[in-house]
Amino acid sequence: MAFKWNSDWNTGVENIDAEHNKLFSMFEIFGDACSEGLGASVVASILDDVLEYTIFHFDGEEKQLAQRNYAFLVQHQEIHQDLKDRVAAYRKSVFECDHDRDALESLGMSVGGFLQDWLIQHIMEKDIPAFKG
Ligand SMILES: [Fe+2]
Repeated sequence: MAFKWNSDWNTGVENIDAEHNKLFSMFEIFGDACSEGLGASVVASILDDVLEYTIFHFDGEEKQLAQRNYAFLVQHQEIHQDLKDRVAAYRKSVFECDHDRDALESLGMSVGGFLQDWLIQHIMEKDIPAFKG
């Protein structure tokens, strides 16, 4: 994938930054798995891990924001929910690419890249102002 983790993306909250870093790597692992010729069920199980970790991270982040009396928590939760819904939808797309290696590879490139872009944009525009603001 195109870029590596950059310290500009740190919120300054240790566990949040570690989790963001792990999510970023997991998105890359998913993208790479799509181009390795693995079957859709293997790729889908990687995406299940991505979704599970995303939910774990968002839940924890929302709790920490609530503890800080963050004013835009509801809006932030809605943004998180939207990404969870998207990841669940991508799981269906993976199975539509079964037995079509090229289609799965291009799905992995677009979705893996999209998820990394989404995370960085979300951190910069929402998480950093929320935790540092
Ligand atoms: Fe967030």
